[in-house]
Formats: sequence, structure tokens, C-alpha cells
Amino acid sequence: MDGNGRWAKRRMMPRSVGHTRGAKNVEVICEAAYDLGIKYLTVYAFSTENWSRPADEVKTLMKLFSRYLKSYRKKAMANNMRVRIIGDRTGLSEEMNEDIRRVEEETAGNTGLQFQIAINYGGRDEILRAVRRLKGTPAAWTIDDISRLLDTGGIPDPDLIIRPGGEYRLSNFLIWQSAYAEFYFTDVLWPDFSPEELKHAVTFYAGRDRRYGGV
Ligand code: IPE
Ligand code: MG
Repeated sequence: MDGNGRWAKRRMMPRSVGHTRGAKNVEVICEAAYDLGIKYLTVYAFSTENWSRPADEVKTLMKLFSRYLKSYRKKAMANNMRVRIIGDRTGLSEEMNEDIRRVEEETAGNTGLQFQIAINYGGRDEILRAVRRLKGTPAAWTIDDISRLLDTGGIPDPDLIIRPGGEYRLSNFLIWQSAYAEFYFTDVLWPDFSPEELKHAVTFYAGRDRRYGGV
């Protein structure tokens, strides 16, 4: 979800306003995704590298996450949505860990949209943490063993990765899981990314010929 800061700047407003708008947009896109028949949706909210931002921006973002994790608890139950957090939660506050635990527990049985939020997430960090949990002799380790131990264990690999905000890079997002993903880049800034834009991305995806290395 890129472009919150620029969205606000263009309107001569503080970056935090962009983040608030961006957070609101998540709900809109969750609903639109589910209406389109998307079963799994993962959003990249905060990376392991985002800690290098100014302390007050980090604080604003963390406050926003806490607020939304609490509100998702109610909304997810009303919409049959399951919420999970991926990323290294040992780097998050006690309060946020409690919010995460509660929303995951309460929504665990929901069978609608399977919604993942990446907070303090980095693909390399995730792989390292997974590898550290591998058991047995290294020669016997399999790709599936690693996949299972990732934060996304049990969640299918993404078919489509959408990056708004005009940058053409992955920025450490789902780097293991995206080996065969299709990519959709758009200059639209995240707060402006509408259900219509999502439809464009899905239409683009539907036109791809996925050969998985075959012919
Ligand atoms: C949101 O957009 C991404 C988050 C880390 C929450 P940015 O904050 O990166 O916005 P830009 O790229 O500065 O416009
Ligand atoms: Mg950015």
C-alpha cells in the first residue's frame, strides 16, 4: 500500500492524514475483493525497514494499526472475515501483540475473506525465522518444509501482486511466495486505489498466460 505520504503532500496535508485515508481504504478494498471472488488478500502495512522513518511517523502508524486491529475484531465478525498478521511480532508492543492475539483468535473460524496484514514484515526476515525453525538434517530439508514454516504457512502463494504508488519493485514483500506471481503496477496512490482499480488489476491478471516454467 504505497503512496499515502504523497497523497497527503499533494493536498498540503501532513503525511499522517494520508496514512489515515490509506487505512480507511483497506476496508473498501477488502469488501471489493471479496465481491470479486478473491479468497485471500494480504496487505503490506509496515516493513522491517519502515522503522527507519521519523519516530513520530512510526508512532502514528502504530497507533493506527492498534486502532484498526480493534475495529476489525467487530467488522470481521460481521463479515465472516478471518484476520491474521504476518511479520515478526516480537518487535511489536505488548499492547499490539494483545490486539493481534485477540483478532486472530476471535476470527479464526471465519470462512469468508482470508485477510492478512503484514506488520513488521520483511520477506528475508521471514525466511530466516522459518529456516531457524527447521528440524533434522539440512540435506533432508524441502522447499515445502520452508513454505510451511513461513508466517504464511497454510496460506496459498499469491497469484497476483499489486503495487500502487508508481514504484516498480517488491520491497521485500512475500519474496519467497511470489516466485510465480503475476505483477500489476500502477501510478495510482494507495488512498486513491478504488474498487475500479482493483477490477483493472484482476482483468489484467485474467489475461495472463501462466506456464509455471512450462511451454
Ligand atoms: C504508505 O505509503 C506505506 C506505509 C509504510 C504505511 P508511504 O508512507 O510510503 O507513502 P509515500 O511513498 O511516502 O507517498
Ligand atoms: Mg512509499
